[in-house]
Amino acid sequence: MADCSTISKNSEKSSEDRRAGHPLATGTDGLRDPFGRLHESLRISVTDRCNIRCFYCMPAGPISFLPRDEILSYEEIARVADIAARLGLRKLRITGGEPLVRAEVWELIARLRKNRRIEEIALTTNGMLLAEQAEPLRRAGLDRLNISLDTLREEVFERISRRKGLDRVLEGITAARAAGFDRIRLNALSIRGLTEDDIVPLADYALGHGMELRFIEFMPLDAEEGWASEQVLSGAEVRRVIEAAFGALLPAPRSVASQPAVDYMLKDRPGRIGFINPVSAPFCGACDRLRLTAEGQIRNCLFSTTEWDVRKFLRMQDEGAEQASAIARQFTHAVEAKKAGHGIDSPDFLRPERSMYQIGG
Ligand code: 5AD
Ligand code: SF4
Repeated sequence: MADCSTISKNSEKSSEDRRAGHPLATGTDGLRDPFGRLHESLRISVTDRCNIRCFYCMPAGPISFLPRDEILSYEEIARVADIAARLGLRKLRITGGEPLVRAEVWELIARLRKNRRIEEIALTTNGMLLAEQAEPLRRAGLDRLNISLDTLREEVFERISRRKGLDRVLEGITAARAAGFDRIRLNALSIRGLTEDDIVPLADYALGHGMELRFIEFMPLDAEEGWASEQVLSGAEVRRVIEAAFGALLPAPRSVASQPAVDYMLKDRPGRIGFINPVSAPFCGACDRLRLTAEGQIRNCLFSTTEWDVRKFLRMQDEGAEQASAIARQFTHAVEAKKAGHGIDSPDFLRPERSMYQIGG
């Protein structure tokens, strides 16, 4: 009975709010796009800066990064995240650039953690600063960590990232495990002609340390427009190498319906290996994500060519119901404009103007 009354009270309230045209009152509908996809995840980039220069993401030469005052403050991010969570975007991922180069990013995590509507906070990092930051991040309440690791060979690390530092990344991974992060996931970008010999050692390393591993295909989001389809080492090819070394991969149950990866288990070894194949097998059909760039623009796809500005509302209006409604409307517009898929394989595919470090991985 108690449940019934709660439900009717909520629905009364939401229909009242709807009559008043309150965009925060989407009731139980949530943010559903024209293709019926319910949006529950928001990726928040906190900076476009990075301490390395992966060729698949950043240019080698001088970069004009966003000036400090164009980047959302932690307070502003928390305000947007609260509005987003009220709209049903309850799973957050903090990204960059490299999020750990932003000062005391654990302060942002702690702030977001206080918001009861936010169910999960994850972070994607290159691991270079994790040795120092794993502990404070864990203490702030970060739930999950994804760490990028494309190779276990220093010379290949340097060719990819144009910097030294594989040792630091490995120390960072060790520190993250010691700090109590479980379900750490390693993301390995596979590049033809470069990382073939890393496939088996990476799998051995991840499985041996109880971490998940996902291989990701190279997407046309590099800054120098050097991407060529020949460089894409497909998930199917990587899978054949894994199976030749470890035996058949068995499909693992999907933990989240919208996950872009297809995960597998090995017959005789615990652990999981997954594949994110945006180029050879687009997974847009189950997409539940929106993105917020460091300077406060909502994007409805990695490849979107339109953005919805929330910073202007954060800075033009006083905090309050009107500001919240204006920002909520931007989220609604972004979801309404969502396309069926990214169309990388279509002849009229248009690269977005921004590259990965400016969008958030
Ligand atoms: N294609 C695919 N994934 C990319 N990432 C960065 N650039 C690209 C790209 N062009 C992913 C990598 C990196 C994370 C931050 O974003 O997995 O580790
Ligand atoms: Fe930095 Fe990540 Fe881009 Fe590499 S992929 S340059 S680590 S932001």
